[in-house]
Amino acid sequence: MTTRKTVAAVAAALTLSTLTCLPAQAAAPAVADGEQATPIVIGHRGASGYRPEHTLAAYKLAIKQGAAYIEPDLVSTRDGVLVARHENEISGTTDVADRPEFADRRATKVIDGDPVTGWFTEDFTYAELKTLNAKERLPQVRPDNTAFDGELKVPTFDQVLELARKRGVGVYPETKHPTYFDSIGLSLEEPLVAALQAHDLDDAEDEVIIQSFEVANLVELDQVVDVDIAQLVSSSGAPYDQVAAGTGVTYASMLTPAGIEAIAAYADGIGANKDLVLPRTGGATTTPSALVDDAHAAGLVVHVWTLRRENQFMATNFRVGADRNAPGDMYAETQAFLDAGVDGVFSDNPDIASAALADWLG
Ligand code: G3P
Ligand code: CA
Repeated sequence: MTTRKTVAAVAAALTLSTLTCLPAQAAAPAVADGEQATPIVIGHRGASGYRPEHTLAAYKLAIKQGAAYIEPDLVSTRDGVLVARHENEISGTTDVADRPEFADRRATKVIDGDPVTGWFTEDFTYAELKTLNAKERLPQVRPDNTAFDGELKVPTFDQVLELARKRGVGVYPETKHPTYFDSIGLSLEEPLVAALQAHDLDDAEDEVIIQSFEVANLVELDQVVDVDIAQLVSSSGAPYDQVAAGTGVTYASMLTPAGIEAIAAYADGIGANKDLVLPRTGGATTTPSALVDDAHAAGLVVHVWTLRRENQFMATNFRVGADRNAPGDMYAETQAFLDAGVDGVFSDNPDIASAALADWLG
């Protein structure tokens, strides 16, 4: 779906000189008529603070802990099956490096301009991939989670959708490296749409939000499915498809009033690095930026990532003690973002985020 031609066309449409020319979309449902809906908790890679990320066990726990949406990051296998992994390089989250039968699959590739060495999902059929065991990505930070190493598998997107439907929660899939996957003939968009269709979710605006750090694939998906779309924005850099097309569009330029208006032409929300909403000075959060107000004015909701309970992942004013891996005050952090007006939080610890949200709502 993301052909070279369409990427170039979208890139051209998003050049800075034409940002203000794109049509604005109708207000997103979550902020319809100026009424802000109840904020949501999104289980980031599942309840990945307590289970190895992107496993069915992590997603199930996130649902139990009150997440309204579960978040699978999506990459492709060699035979075009979408699976939930944060990266297509899987040595950090599976036991592939310990499997002699796959030793010769180790490779170095250039992904989004950077060399990466390891084992890649696109070099495995799904039948091969499902023989691997998932493992905790951050064993030093979350040693308790290593108890599950070897017990869990890499789920397909289809399995994640089946779980979400069965449990009555939403799904917030992210396309990972869509330009790269397109370049190797494994475009992510077609299987994503097919999976949504198979579960009658291709017109489920309140149940599916598709997100990406790139732009072109979201513009295209907005034209073929009737679900919500969220543009991810980082605190630095630029979407890789825009870099590849040489448009000059950066995440910073996308967050100017004109840039936000351009996003509203194809998206319903912005998924922002949390520092973009509560900037830090000297390590501590300060007063909110204009991002939430500007996004709401354009009819876009704002979901921030990522709230994690360990001290090292939060601003200094929420930390408790000096141990980087010890829990800080994520409850207070969550409420600070709710006070700043966000419409949702991605969290590795949906239990804490849900409790903070419930108390904040009163
Ligand atoms: O998709 C929201 C957040 O997950 C973005 O960061 O790197 O965890 O996918 P990442
Ligand atoms: Ca993600």
